[in-house]
Amino acid sequence: MSRKPIIAGNWKMNLLQSDAKALFDEISSYVSNYTAVQLPSVVIAPVFTSLNQVHSIHCDCGCGGDKLAVAAQNCHWETSGAYTGELSVEMLKDAGCSYIIIGHSERRQYFSETDEMINKKAKAILAGGLIPIICCGETLEQREAGSTDVHIASQIRAALAGISSEDIAKSVIAYEPIWAIGTGKSCDADEANRVIKMIRSVVSEIAGASAADSIRILYGGSVKPSTIEEQMSKSDIDGALIGGASLKAESFIDIIDKTMKVSV
Ligand code: PGA
Repeated sequence: MSRKPIIAGNWKMNLLQSDAKALFDEISSYVSNYTAVQLPSVVIAPVFTSLNQVHSIHCDCGCGGDKLAVAAQNCHWETSGAYTGELSVEMLKDAGCSYIIIGHSERRQYFSETDEMINKKAKAILAGGLIPIICCGETLEQREAGSTDVHIASQIRAALAGISSEDIAKSVIAYEPIWAIGTGKSCDADEANRVIKMIRSVVSEIAGASAADSIRILYGGSVKPSTIEEQMSKSDIDGALIGGASLKAESFIDIIDKTMKVSV
């Protein structure tokens, strides 16, 4: 089966509203040259305070798809209540998000996000009709100790526990080796593809072959215009979650452009 690629920009804690608007305007003017069928699923994840500066762009060719969709970088799993500083899935949907990134290594590391919390968030996101982008990845120590696969498989099993095969099929996973994030040192494309294949086999065990075939699994970690073609040429890499290179219109657009050329 052919899975539609996703190019997602994680802006992290960067850009004031005016900068976010300027970057969004450049990306939106680029995607307006194409139909949603031609484009990968382009997703941008700004900070919460800039969600009002960006919006999804619906395709007008009659295909029913989006040329651009908006993601949040985090959410809470409860629907409302006394959770100071948090935002619910419904609030993020109301602000225009259709995807929510969860389990990013920075949130696991700096905000003590656990596998159990990530699982609760994934369930809340799917119950709210949005799509979770579930991040997983190993540290350099785990890689050097040869425990990458065991660690990633355990993160995936925990994140997807109790979720139906149908919901798993529409979810997105991002494999992001922690040592490759923001370091300029991207994981070798064959190795990223091998780990992603392993993730797909774990999904198959949990949710069946059809869900494993449908779920989109991205690579993330120092993706740049110079790395994307090789990454996208691999059988199991369905796109990229991009930090640094998504903050400049030129490099993000270049990545989208190259993805279109490799995947058509
Ligand atoms: P990077 O970040 O592209 O800057 O390595 C990726 C990510 O953290 O999602």
